[in-house]
This record gives sequence, structure tokens and C-alpha cells, in this order.
Amino acid sequence: NKLEKKFPENFLWGGATAANQFEGAYNEDGKGLSIQDIYPQGIKGGRTDKPTEDNMKLVGIDFYHRYKEDIALFAEMGFKVFRMSIAWSRIFPNGDDSKPNEKGLEFYDKVFDELARYDIEPLVTLSHYETPLALSKNYDGWKNRKLIDFFEKYARTVFTRYKDKVKYWLTFNEINSTLHYPYMGAGVWTPKDKLSKEDLYQTIHHKLVASALAVKVGHEINPDFKIGCMILGIPNYPLTPKPSDVIKAMQDDRQNLFFADVHVRGEYPKYMNRVFKENNIELDISTEDKETLKYTVDFISFSYYMSSCSTSDPKKNTQGEGNFLGGVPNPYLEASDWGWQIDPEGLRYILNQLYDRYQKPLFIVENGLGAYDELITDEAGNKTVNDDYRIKYLNDHLVQVAEAIADGVELMGYTTWGCIDLVSNSTAELRKRYGFIYVDRYDDGTGTLARYKKKSFDWYKDVIASNGQIL
Ligand code: BG6
Repeated sequence: NKLEKKFPENFLWGGATAANQFEGAYNEDGKGLSIQDIYPQGIKGGRTDKPTEDNMKLVGIDFYHRYKEDIALFAEMGFKVFRMSIAWSRIFPNGDDSKPNEKGLEFYDKVFDELARYDIEPLVTLSHYETPLALSKNYDGWKNRKLIDFFEKYARTVFTRYKDKVKYWLTFNEINSTLHYPYMGAGVWTPKDKLSKEDLYQTIHHKLVASALAVKVGHEINPDFKIGCMILGIPNYPLTPKPSDVIKAMQDDRQNLFFADVHVRGEYPKYMNRVFKENNIELDISTEDKETLKYTVDFISFSYYMSSCSTSDPKKNTQGEGNFLGGVPNPYLEASDWGWQIDPEGLRYILNQLYDRYQKPLFIVENGLGAYDELITDEAGNKTVNDDYRIKYLNDHLVQVAEAIADGVELMGYTTWGCIDLVSNSTAELRKRYGFIYVDRYDDGTGTLARYKKKSFDWYKDVIASNGQIL
């Protein structure tokens, strides 16, 4: 039986980006530094004292100056939605400033107006791994409760300013990654190995409260806002049918899903009591915090790149080769050039898992293949990339999305990650390309920044035009 690929009418097809990975202009028009500006090697590297030229993010792909050209290309593909983030330090350069930076606000006005010209809905992440550096250095980032107030002010400012231009909002990108990367996820200046578990969970708690507060404030400012949480979606499969592996997979899943549980249910799940008790964690959770957490999200969004395998065998567990968070390799799956295991069916699985658990609308806001691309000149003399591997990857995943919709999952939309090539997050390089649009810029800083359409550009255009029927 061939699957009938039914995507809902008004399905939000599009692409996704983040300010720090593509805007560039890191110190223009009053922008303050963000933690990314001193972090040239990505997640695994270290910090520098000040921005250094080898940091690809400082220039990014220069969206700041080229947004009109880029949005025109997104429109040509037929995008219905464009996911982007606001750089907090463009609006509040130090995070704790008394007044916002008007020039920063104007930039996003121009971007939203340009998107509106083409009827593209913005989907805006408030905080995508880009905490203002001053908040990180002076307050130890989200470890400090004061960040809740600074974030509320920032959220209130942009919600008010853009209340008639933006309807879809996300609070924190991949909030569950804070557990693994407290500097990147929460701007915590204290090195991870010096951070106690209690402090780590307190940091997370502050973000969860701030996220709920943003939902509350956003709905007060415009009741039509749709505000979602955003989690890194990695389903954990038991490595074997051994019951203890199944239990381990359940626990690993909970480590991720705990964040969505709080966002959707408005309180901490009971299983966390045991985690806290066994790790001697006593959180500072006020009565007011508890009240705030009750402001739950309108939808759940997530990124999906890979699944992971869980095992109760401590020897196997140390391999950490399955994906960028570790995990044990799945013998049934192949991996990308960067070792990320490719699992389209895992996307159907997690869509069903999340929908069964929450019965709330879902939104896939990241999915894609980071690969080496070769720029060639075709017979017509145009520069392009024959990225059949990317088309296959996305096609295979979208077929599984259609399966999940047929299973009954309520899905709002799908945005591919890095719809235009941008600087990668984990490795801060440009040669790991995700886009439908090639950007002529290289890791040694050379390149003209010209944009070229890859083969996948036309393919995605057809996917959108047919509302998924060509898959
Ligand atoms: C997600 C992030 O983890 O994965 C993005 O939200 C990131 O910021 C994306 O770019 C892909 O990861 P990478 O390391 O290949 O850029």
C-alpha cells in the first residue's frame, strides 16, 4: 500500500536559522557581544578573551546586510514560514541595560517587513545559544536568578514591538541541551566540571521559569500569539531487548522529556523527585515560581537529526560514538560525514511519542544533513551543487513525517535546518553545509559571499508547491 502523503492545508513549510550562525555584523549598530563571539571552535572548543578573526560567526554569511536577497530566495522556494532568532545582545547589548538599542529593534522590523512582502510567517526564537556575554561574565549566566528578570524585560520588549508582525514564537532553543552544555545553553561562566549538579539544575530551573513567564507575558500582549518550547529531539532505543536496557532507554528519554513535561504540564514530573534525591539536589523553587510554571506552551517544537541507543552496560556506554551527545552506535544505521547517525523512522517514532504524551500540536523546527558540498559549473554555465544526498535525506525524513501524520499526529509545520548555508554550531565551521542555497565563504575566511542555488533548491520548491505530494 503506497502511503497517501497528506499534509494539512496551511502546513507551514520553510527553513530555519539562528542569529549567531548567520547574521554576522557582530558589533554593528550597537550590538553587544554574545557568548558565541568568543567561542571560535564551537561546542568542543574553548573561549577566547575577545573576538578573534578565526571565529566564523563574526561575519557569518552576512545576512545582516543581505537579508533582502536571501528572503527573496526563500520566497522563490515558496516558504510559508521562516525560523530565525533575535540576537538578545542586539536589543540589550549588555543584557541588563535600562533601555533597548533602537537600531537593533529596527533591524528586525526590516526583516519582518520584508518577510511580510512575501507572506512568509516569521517563527522567532527568543534565545538561540546567544546569551549576552556580559550576563555570562558578570552574573554567571542563567545560574543567577536575576536572569529571569532580564529575560522578561527582553521578551516584553520584543513582544510589544513586534506584536503585529510576529505570531509564532519559541522561547529557548533546545532547552534540554543546557544539561550537557551549560555555557552554550545558559551562558554559565563557571566551567562545567566545576559546576555542581545542584547548580546545573538550578540554572535549568531559572530557564524553565523564564520560559513560562515569557508565555504568560506574550499572551497578555497579544492573545493570538502561539508560543512554543523547543527541545532537542533524540529518541533513545534500548540497545537490546534486555529489560535493564529498556529501563535505561526510558531514563535517557526522561532526561530530555523532563523539559517538555514541565513546559506542557506546568509542573515538575514526579520521576524528577528521585533524580534530585539521589543526587542530593535541593532546588530553590519559590511559590511564585510554581505559579509561573502553570503558564504552559501552545505547542511543542523540536529539532531532529538522530536517534540514540541506550545500554545498561557501563563498558559499552563509554563509547559515545553514536552522535554528538554520546550514546552507543546503532548497528542498523549509517552516519553522516560528521558521524551523526541517520534515522528517518526515528522521526516518525518521536512524533508519535511526543503526541501520545502531550496531545499538543507539534512543530519540527530543525532537520537536515550537514555535508561537504562541491560547487560546480553546470552545462548552462551556472554554479550549483548536485546534492542528491541531501534530497534523499530530506525526502526520506519527510516520508516518515507523512507516516506520522497518517498515524494521527497533529503537526503545524516543518522547517529544515540551515536552509541557506551557515556556520555550524557544534564545530563552528562553514564546510558543514545544510542549505538549499550555497554561500561562497570558506573556513579560512575567503569567499565572495555570493549565493548559488543547489539542486535541492528546486526539489524543495516542488515539495512545497505540491504540499508534499512529490515525495
Ligand atoms: C541544533 C542547533 O543543535 O543543531 C543549531 O539548534 C545547529 O544551532 C544544528 O546548527 C546543527 O548542528 P551543527 O553543529 O551541525 O551546526
